Amino acid sequence: MRIFKTLLFCFIGTTSLIAQNAKKIPEVEQLLEKMTIEEKIGQLNLLTPGGGVATGEVVSKNVEAKIKTGNVGGLFGVASPEKMKKAQDIAVKNSRLGIPLLFGSDIIHGYKTTFPIPLGLSASWDMDLIKNTAQIAAKEATADGINWNFSPMVDIARDPRWGRIAEGAGEDPYLGSAVAEAMVKGYQGTDLTANNTMLACVKHFALYGAVEAGRDYNSVDMGHVKMFNQYLPPYKAAIDAGAASVMTSFNDVDGVPSTANKWLLTDLLRDSWNFDGFVVSDYTSLNEMIAHGLGDLQAVSALALKAGLDMDMVGEGFLSTLKKSLDEGKVTETDITNACRRILEAKYKLGLLDNPYRYIDASRPEKDILTEENRKIARKAAAHSFVLLKNENNILPISKTAKIALVGPLADSRNNMLGTWAPTGDVKYAVTIKEGFNNIAPNATINYAKGSNVLNDKELAKKINVFGPRVEISNETPETLLKEAVAAAEKSDVVVAVVGEATEMSGEAASRTDISIPQAQKKLINALVATGKPVVLILMSGRPLVITEEFDLPVSILQVWHPGVEAGNAAADVVFGDYNPSGKLTATWPRAVGQIPIYHSMKNTGRPAPENDQFQKFRSNYLDQPNAPLFPFGYGLSYTTFEYSDVQLSKQKIAQGESITVSVKVKNTGNYDGEEVVQLYLRDVVRSITPPKRQLKGFKKVFIKKGESKTVTITLQPEDLKFYNGNLDFVAEPGDFEVFVGGNSNADLKKSFILE
Ligand code: BGC
Repeated sequence: MRIFKTLLFCFIGTTSLIAQNAKKIPEVEQLLEKMTIEEKIGQLNLLTPGGGVATGEVVSKNVEAKIKTGNVGGLFGVASPEKMKKAQDIAVKNSRLGIPLLFGSDIIHGYKTTFPIPLGLSASWDMDLIKNTAQIAAKEATADGINWNFSPMVDIARDPRWGRIAEGAGEDPYLGSAVAEAMVKGYQGTDLTANNTMLACVKHFALYGAVEAGRDYNSVDMGHVKMFNQYLPPYKAAIDAGAASVMTSFNDVDGVPSTANKWLLTDLLRDSWNFDGFVVSDYTSLNEMIAHGLGDLQAVSALALKAGLDMDMVGEGFLSTLKKSLDEGKVTETDITNACRRILEAKYKLGLLDNPYRYIDASRPEKDILTEENRKIARKAAAHSFVLLKNENNILPISKTAKIALVGPLADSRNNMLGTWAPTGDVKYAVTIKEGFNNIAPNATINYAKGSNVLNDKELAKKINVFGPRVEISNETPETLLKEAVAAAEKSDVVVAVVGEATEMSGEAASRTDISIPQAQKKLINALVATGKPVVLILMSGRPLVITEEFDLPVSILQVWHPGVEAGNAAADVVFGDYNPSGKLTATWPRAVGQIPIYHSMKNTGRPAPENDQFQKFRSNYLDQPNAPLFPFGYGLSYTTFEYSDVQLSKQKIAQGESITVSVKVKNTGNYDGEEVVQLYLRDVVRSITPPKRQLKGFKKVFIKKGESKTVTITLQPEDLKFYNGNLDFVAEPGDFEVFVGGNSNADLKKSFILE
């Protein structure tokens, strides 16, 4: 079978090469004609002259000189538009052929207008909103001269120990694909030559979210059936949406690092998925193949080029070894020309070959960046990303005239509002929770106290504080801090404690083995509860946390992730009831770290746990915990309540290729108007490979006024019934299907149909 697939790929490979030849771009071909081999290799080199985040050991040197000699294809992390202009001048005026540079950047959740971290944004389940944040990011970034964005990050993540779960859309391929598409379309628009759109770069190809044990940069080993069904769909969705570039991942796939994985970069990406953009390595991921054990720099560079890598980020392996490899017959001129062509085609697509200064316009930053309008969307996006996990005695929303003890290490911490991977944002523009409370509820009495440090371990704080003072350890003793908070609580009607993770406790190189709230803050929470006052936790984090102990306390919990530049205003909007929370989790929250990996689409196994999840010997369960998570995928409360009834299917039986429509009545039975994310899960009851117990296959976010009902319809398309079988064919197999509809992945309203 494998041989057949390889032959098939070879066959498709030849045809797609023909197709590619057919649509060669004359401007690019003319340029290629004039280029020396050194100049072609130069285009494959991406450098950062400082100002970016150095996440690997290599830092670029002599950048100016390299641009002049035609040894640079693009720059990223350039600190200012003036510097970009200067660099473009050097490329255009001082290099022999005057080929303009690409300017890249990591704009992961907004440029200067920082939106919530992507995991938070995905919890809005609002694709128009997500697309809109990407459009704004593109408008702002291009105003500063950037034309290539290292986003979206679409890695499926089912292990919250992995810090980079913060950067993606969570655990689910269906939702992840929708988010991937929305972001690519938001960044790239419909016209890449427009000066407010930029190239998207889907990353990290592939499977980076499945690193073993949640440890960053670790190995990945995954069967192809799981890969195709669960992990690859969002990358493919981004490619189908037109993503112009792809970034490789640090990990290996089937034992070959992605950066030199021919099966991944050529057979799958180009030949099977018809990707026609360019592939860039991750930061020094090319050089890291030496440590992976694949050979020296020359060997790994040749391997990577041969595999289909076009651009080397920072490592200069291509620059320093490809000529030698060419002379020694290890790569061909065609290999180099093909890679160079793809870089030049990207420049052509952006309109840079026409006008290298298309994105450099000194009048734009002032009018396009961090505008009131953009901040409004950031505030909305943040409020819509919050997930109400628990509302003890319906204490939320709080009255705008209440006496509030606002406490916690994150309550007035400007440094921690933006979240991980926001290098283009600036904490000075962020609104703290305390400021937000004052803005939105000026007539409330706010008794503020820090209450505790984020954590008390100075060594750990040092590791976290690489990009700024995220964890600030107070000069006051923990006991004094605690006393101040308790005193504030005692003179208030209600306590709001802003607790959780500091910004860089998640994100890249921020894996944790213990994902609970740090001890210092646990003490604070317990002391506050002991006052007998109602306690609301505003919980910040870049990942699902284990909060089983806190959940058992009589507290309310509003999960706000790291909300971005409008953090405080958005939090106040929700706490005081101007916005009724509607976010739903996009990654399962475990009860205990030992349950990880945990996700909603797990399989039944041959020995499923009993229905009531009570332990039974010789069943697939744990002695010390139930199987169920603390919060399932799709979970989130509202200030109102929704009742589901009357699920109907448009047909009882369908033929291959037919769609089927599911309708359900949703009634707002509470006291507030509100939005609900109606979710549809599907179970393929019998099939040739073991099915997940259920899988998300549709959703709709609807606004329903209090007391009113809406009939919500979701249509299952023929592809929604398909999966990759043991031969990796994408098929729908005849038989029974079960549909579950409701407000989270435990939805229990069920109907069945048959696919004939
Ligand atoms: C990250 C990428 C990022 C790159 C450039 C790497 O360490 O993995 O996501 O785009 O740095 O900043």
